[in-house]
This record gives sequence, C-alpha cells and structure tokens, in this order.
Amino acid sequence: MKVSIIGGGGLVGSCAAYALQCGGLVREIALLDVNQELAVGQALDLQHGGPSIADQTIQGGSYEHIPDSDIICITAGLRRKPDESRLDLINRNTDLFVQILRDVKAAGIKSTAIVLVVSNPVDILTYVAAQTLGLPINQVIGLGTQLDTIRFCSLIAEELNAPPTQTKALILGEHGESMVPIWSSATIGGLPLDKFSGWDHGVASKVFTRTRGSGAEVIKRKGGAGFAVGIAIRDCIDAIALDRRCILPVSSVQDGCYGIRDVALSVPTVVGRTGVMRRIELDLWPKEIQGIRASGTALRSTLSAVMPRVGSL
Ligand code: 2OP
Repeated sequence: MKVSIIGGGGLVGSCAAYALQCGGLVREIALLDVNQELAVGQALDLQHGGPSIADQTIQGGSYEHIPDSDIICITAGLRRKPDESRLDLINRNTDLFVQILRDVKAAGIKSTAIVLVVSNPVDILTYVAAQTLGLPINQVIGLGTQLDTIRFCSLIAEELNAPPTQTKALILGEHGESMVPIWSSATIGGLPLDKFSGWDHGVASKVFTRTRGSGAEVIKRKGGAGFAVGIAIRDCIDAIALDRRCILPVSSVQDGCYGIRDVALSVPTVVGRTGVMRRIELDLWPKEIQGIRASGTALRSTLSAVMPRVGSL
C-alpha cells in the first residue's frame, strides 16, 4: 500500500506521515511538496527512525509518485489566521487546490485510488475533488469531523477525568462553525455521560464550545494543528489500508442521508478499501438532525459561489 501526501513538507502532512510511520501499516509513504527540498528533508528525517519502527519506504519528491499511489492525501493549503473562519479561507485555497487536482490528474491516478482531502475548508474542497477528479464518487473522502470528534472526546475525558479511549462522542456536519455535537449517543465505557458526577448542561456547552474553537486555539497558541490532525488522517488511512469497514465521521458527497444531497459533509460513514462503502443514518435527536441539515445549507451557499471558479480540470 503506497500513500502519497501532497503538502508532505508542511506541519499537517509531515505529522500525518509520522503517524503513518508509527502505525507501521502502509509499505510506502511519499511526501510531495512544492518545496521539494523540505519534502526530501522530512522524508529523510522520518527514514532515519525506520529501523526502530517498521520496514517501510519513505521518500520525498513530487508528482512522479502519484501514478502508483493507492491513497493520495491532500493537505496542502494556506493556514487560517487566528481570527479567520475556514470558509473565509476558501477563495485563497480554492485556486491552489484546483491546480493540485490538475497536477494529480495530469500525472495519472490509479482508477482504484482513494483521495483523502484535508485542505480547508475541507467539506467544500472534498466536493470540488469529487466532482472534478473523474474517480468514482465513493473514492473521494474528506477528513471532515474526524478531527473534531477526537478533540471532542479528549476534552470530555479531561473534564470527567475519564479514559480518553473509552470516551465516545461524535461531531457531525461541517468541519467548521456549524459542526454539531451528538450528545444523544455520547458514552464513557458504555455509560451515558449524565451518569458521571460533575456532568451537566453547562459543562457540556463549555466542552463543545472549546471543541469548536480548538482549531483556532491551536493556531493562536502554536501556529497550526499537526499532531492530532495527523492521528485523524491515520485513522482514515488505516481504515482504507486494512479494509476495516469501520464507522467514521468523515466528509463525502451526500446522496440522501438525513435528507441531504449534493454537498459534502460528515455523517457516520463506513470506510474500507474502496473508500465510502455506505452511510449510516443513525437515529439522532431532532435538533441534531436539524443541525446537520443547517451545515448542509451553509455549505451549499458557499459551493454556489465557489463552483463557478472551479470549471473543469
Ligand atoms: C483544524 O481544525 C486543520 O482544520 C484543521 O485544526
């Protein structure tokens, strides 16, 4: 299994490469970057650790790695400023992203390749990639709210002094301001959160507000996310590489789940070797379903402004 990471020289891409290396699952990791020297340097630094981790090939380079890649992860993009929303980023990143898609298509992409979009705004760019790359639509996935979901679980666990790995709580909808906390199915060790002392609506609201603001908080404190987004990317790539068919809150172009169509956002999605295998319309609270639909409405209005900029590749 070969994974190419476009933007592999940067913080997100190199952290994703490191997470994949530590996981030891994929045989080849290629880091592609407009700054090739940086990509080669990141790959060399990773390679040096190889003897203590796994037998893998880790290289830096450019689009020569695309034709034999099984998974292409696109992390390249300009980072948000602390006070900038992800959607504000769209115009700056759309043109850059479309050029990357053109280069990928020109290099030649396997008909079975899976594309994982991470660049922001990820839901918009996932839709753009799905509509223009010419791959079956189930083979284009966006990282979506997988990162928000693990952030959410980590902050709930911190609040209740609970084991993070046993804290299960979903974020769905947009990876952005309209993301939706799914309290109806949140548990710790299989127990509902309200069984835990110290948990109330005020705490819940505080934890979700911090989750939604985590991207901006990390940007403000350290310039941008890297470690957790690398782990979230690894979660998705492992599901594909192992054909795990696990349920992940990832972004894809919707075809009717919760009545939502023709926009990319995150719903519970079965992910395996062929990408999106199916979506699960979990029974949610009415306000949770309304929230996901509101994400769709917000994203659709942005798409109507963006798609004319895209054209064909
Ligand atoms: C974040 O939320 C990079 O959008 C990502 O940090």
